Amino acid sequence: MSEYLYQKTNHYFGQLASGTEKCGMDELKELGASNIKPGYLGVYFCANQRTLYDIVYRTRIFSRILAPLIVFDCHSEKYLYKTAQNIDWTDFLTLTKTFAITANVADSNIRNSQYAGQIFKDAIVDQFREKTGERPNVDTHNPDLQLNLYIHENKARISVDLGGGSLHKRGYRVESVEAPMQETLAAAIIRLSGWHGERPLYDPFCGSGTLLCEALMQTCNIPAAYLRHKFGFLRLPDFDAAVWNQVKTKANSEMVEIGQTRLSAPHVEQAFQPAQVLVGGSDINPDALQAVRANRKALPSGESIKVRRADFHDLEGLNNTTIVTNPPYGIRLGDEDSAAALLKDFGDYLKQKCTGSTAFVYYGDQSLVKKLGLKADWKQPLRNGGLDGVLCKYELY
Ligand SMILES: C[S@@+](CC[C@H](N)C(=O)[O-])C[C@H]1O[C@@H](n2cnc3c(N)ncnc32)[C@H](O)[C@@H]1O
Repeated sequence: MSEYLYQKTNHYFGQLASGTEKCGMDELKELGASNIKPGYLGVYFCANQRTLYDIVYRTRIFSRILAPLIVFDCHSEKYLYKTAQNIDWTDFLTLTKTFAITANVADSNIRNSQYAGQIFKDAIVDQFREKTGERPNVDTHNPDLQLNLYIHENKARISVDLGGGSLHKRGYRVESVEAPMQETLAAAIIRLSGWHGERPLYDPFCGSGTLLCEALMQTCNIPAAYLRHKFGFLRLPDFDAAVWNQVKTKANSEMVEIGQTRLSAPHVEQAFQPAQVLVGGSDINPDALQAVRANRKALPSGESIKVRRADFHDLEGLNNTTIVTNPPYGIRLGDEDSAAALLKDFGDYLKQKCTGSTAFVYYGDQSLVKKLGLKADWKQPLRNGGLDGVLCKYELY
């Protein structure tokens, strides 16, 4: 069996959304990675096998963790095909397992990502055909092995996706309403808010409850991949089931009930009295509340997320609370003028009724920031899907 690049170097690459690099690097450090360095839309790091499994199981910020198999100069399709065929794919796949490929090509002789992915797939399939007369199937929805091809300036990298697909799919979202936020972005926002369960957290535009679910997962220390069944690292030739079981058992044993201080949050210095509702929210749309109720079910302590139907104009004050929210915005929700008017009212609500609170408002459209009428303590650009959003912090006195 060959020795692959990740085995020689213990080097890996984590992909994340633009704007979340610092959050991702801090998280990797906490999880025990070393040599952490920023790269293009991601972070390079080193980890031993145990730490690596732990990172894939617990990361809230990264959407993919990739283990490189080879890196090579790649000036033509022919060379891509030939080099991909040099890997013995039986190290990773059998005929009963399925696979899928994500390909990304930029500034290279091969111009089209989809075409590059197709060549790569042919190389794998043809190798199996030549050896066995049969080929493994492609399954783009739920493959056993997810491979990644990245070509930049004619330098190619072939990697195994260790999560086995995008890690933003936690497994709790069974229903959503308009403009849901990616789970990885919601986790980054909760992290940037610095909230650790020491006072209530509330989302007055909760939609399908992504921010609430991520807040609950963080405060209860629920591993981000707790509900995931398949992992790409299970297909690595050096996969160690005993180590994986230990990692998973340890991580699961560190979960706590909502309202308990956890050991891994050393910055929470004092014990606190859990409020009656620690994680709560509201939304004007009844379908949104139905979605939150469906989504929270899968999570341990999920029923402690309390939601109700309310127009924020009718809410009582939210004092001494961490308000984390993503109000409606024009591009996705249709009407920019009404989004601006709503934000002005929301700014007045924060000013007048939220004494002693801190608000973290995520705008899907940066041009809306000024409509709130409050001066932000800081702003952090964060991308959500294809949208250039920004998170702003407001201390409310
Ligand atoms: C951008 S979405 C929030 C998405 C949410 N973060 C998620 O991940 O699903 C904005 C939400 O604001 C709600 N909304 C609009 N006007 C409202 C109002 N006046 N009061 C309360 N909620 C409102 C919408 O129903 C929608 O669910």
